[in-house]
Amino acid sequence: MRASEMIRKKRDGVALSSDELRFLIQGYAEGKIPDYQLSAWAMAVYFQGMDARETADLTLEMVRSGDEVNLSSIRGIKVDKHSTGGVGDTTTLVLGPMVAACGVPVAKLSGRGLGHTGGTVDKLESFPGFSTSLSIDAFIQQVNDIGIALMGQTADLTPADKQLYALRDVTATVDSIPLIASSIMSKKIAAGADAIVLDVKTGAGAFMKTEERARELAEAMVRIGKHVGRRTIAVISDMDQPLGRAVGNALEVREAIETLRGEGPPDLTELCLELGAYMLILGGRADTPEEAKALLRARINDGTALDQLRRFVQAQGGDTRVVDHPDLLPQADEVIAVKAKRSGTVAAMEAETIGLCAMKLGAGRETKESTIDHGVGIELEKKVGDSVQAGDTLATLHIRKGGPVAEVSETLQSAISITDTNVSPPVQIKGVVT
Ligand code: URA
Ligand code: CA
Repeated sequence: MRASEMIRKKRDGVALSSDELRFLIQGYAEGKIPDYQLSAWAMAVYFQGMDARETADLTLEMVRSGDEVNLSSIRGIKVDKHSTGGVGDTTTLVLGPMVAACGVPVAKLSGRGLGHTGGTVDKLESFPGFSTSLSIDAFIQQVNDIGIALMGQTADLTPADKQLYALRDVTATVDSIPLIASSIMSKKIAAGADAIVLDVKTGAGAFMKTEERARELAEAMVRIGKHVGRRTIAVISDMDQPLGRAVGNALEVREAIETLRGEGPPDLTELCLELGAYMLILGGRADTPEEAKALLRARINDGTALDQLRRFVQAQGGDTRVVDHPDLLPQADEVIAVKAKRSGTVAAMEAETIGLCAMKLGAGRETKESTIDHGVGIELEKKVGDSVQAGDTLATLHIRKGGPVAEVSETLQSAISITDTNVSPPVQIKGVVT
């Protein structure tokens, strides 16, 4: 087999066979096929696409390029959740305990990563003492004991995807639905999921800016799931404005605790119930979304969801007092209000800009070496559709002494637009692909 032949086939719109894709991806992972040939192939895929079978084969080859986590000694169906990424997305912190409280085992590998705020691992480290450095055996034992565990990723999962993603990043080939879909799905499959619930975000603060593209990506990922025998459901959700009110690590932990108490922001609560419902369905605990949501609400109302968080934090060495006293979380030095300059209705809150503001305050990592400040961030007092009077607080900055108050306040002001006309709050759930 020759790579040049496969590039030519793909260029001419011919699907590659399973063997050809194996040759290409394993050859690349082993350094036998050079970057320039893989980039030519990726560009051909960008223009010609891939059919469902090809996309599934590519996914499996990326899984095979590295370690696979074996969760078979955990009882029950392991359902993983993945979000395509947004601003202030606190869902994992809520979903884990909530779903575990309903009897679906939660065995989550999670990263730190770059971004506006930290990853789930960073957020959880807002609990003093919380550790995500578990051995795989301790991790599995903990899921069997208390129903939930989260560990930082140590295994070498999908190295071919890492290599290919870096290559796509510099060859203008990131934005290809089959390449994105296989990249995301390969990581979930390698992490040992039996079934997968995807939260595909759409809007200004999302990777997929339009609903149409988000739906295409969702459909591609669900198709991969069908081909490889991992049941997959995708929820398409709004990310035009940040999710919930908190954008920051400890602030989001506090927001998650409130949501587990049944006192969370409506948009975050609605999304968590929707995603949680499909996790229960795939986990075999409910037959319909209505039944699943009733079960989730019952676990919130009777306190078992919050109790599950307490046990989770305790098992991983964190300070459980925080669950009842969120004031013990890391705090910023100052809280400064950003006020509306005019009256009207909030028409838009640019999620991406608000995320960048949180990062400026120290909530996220600009480079791998940056350190996270757990206490800082932004709390939104208003959301799209709310009416405001001039002088009302739009948002509060949780900031360190000497932090960039003027710069961030000004950027936030410009990221929040106010109009004279009526604006409805956005629809949070845009659709479900099964
Ligand atoms: N996120 C991924 O993990 N992979 C992609 O290709 C794009 C976004
Ligand atoms: Ca939030």
